[in-house]
Amino acid sequence: MFQTRLDQTARDIQTQFDRIYADLDKLPVVQAMAHATRGGKRLRGFFVLETARLHGVAPEQAILPATAIEALHAYSLVHDDLPCMDDDDLRRGEPTVHVKWDEATAVLAGDALQAMAFELVSDPRVGSGDVRANLSLSLAKAAGAQGMVLGQALDMAAETAAQPLSLEQITMLQQGKTGALIAWSAMAGARMAQVNTGQLQKYASAVGLAFQIADDILDVTGDTATVGKATGKDANAGKATFVSHLGLDGAKRRADELVQSACDALSVYGDEAETLRQAAAFVIARQS
Ligand code: IPE
Ligand code: IPE
Ligand code: MG
Ligand code: MG
Ligand code: MG
Repeated sequence: MFQTRLDQTARDIQTQFDRIYADLDKLPVVQAMAHATRGGKRLRGFFVLETARLHGVAPEQAILPATAIEALHAYSLVHDDLPCMDDDDLRRGEPTVHVKWDEATAVLAGDALQAMAFELVSDPRVGSGDVRANLSLSLAKAAGAQGMVLGQALDMAAETAAQPLSLEQITMLQQGKTGALIAWSAMAGARMAQVNTGQLQKYASAVGLAFQIADDILDVTGDTATVGKATGKDANAGKATFVSHLGLDGAKRRADELVQSACDALSVYGDEAETLRQAAAFVIARQS
């Protein structure tokens, strides 16, 4: 059930992007945006659509914030891959934007994708003014200097830190760089329905952390052809990860515990949340 819905989400989100680009001039920057938003698991978009369904919000409304978070995520990847950051040539099995075009195009495509995300959550079709303001404000916080950008800054700083980061510091770094956008995605449905997000918040933060632990594990155990990006880079780059701190087995155990607590947090939703439980299990079982 989970895989079928994830596949459907990927198709629906791609349809939204295709429509958006069809209305834009075919400039290199637009082609670069289209390239950057193609492929990927679409897990963040899936969390938006699935939590919307759980709260009785129509998919026609939820598809816009779902596309928004995938645009914002794609921007974060384009910038993350730049030579001044992780310096990666391969993403989703394709050349990165600065390799296929150039650095200026990659910076600008990322900028435009971030703006596109806010355009999408502010679209009148999403819901009332209150709902759209709530989605925009929370997305701004998740994306910026208290969220993803904070985590990315801490990640870069850790590369040259005199001492290895503590577990608390690594947890904070990862909650920012990866956790914040995943948490936003998993809380979007409740926000759209204007209901309390307490239990979903617990699910979201556990899944977000488990997701980045799995990413760090894949950097060590995965191969480039399957993962679609370079592997074996974090240790050499001096990245602070759960694997660098806990070792491979310790990191796997921590990820298992987090998935268990994510699933426990959903008990109030009963069977309706089964797909979200399967999604949590997928987050650490995935090979790409
Ligand atoms: C990769 O995210 C970057 C991280 C935040 C760890 P994903 O693994 O979700 O990448 P795609 O979207 O599926 O390519
Ligand atoms: C990237 O983390 C997180 C963001 C893009 C915000 P990583 O640098 O670990 O992601 P990958 O491994 O390049 O996908
Ligand atoms: Mg990085
Ligand atoms: Mg990277
Ligand atoms: Mg990584």
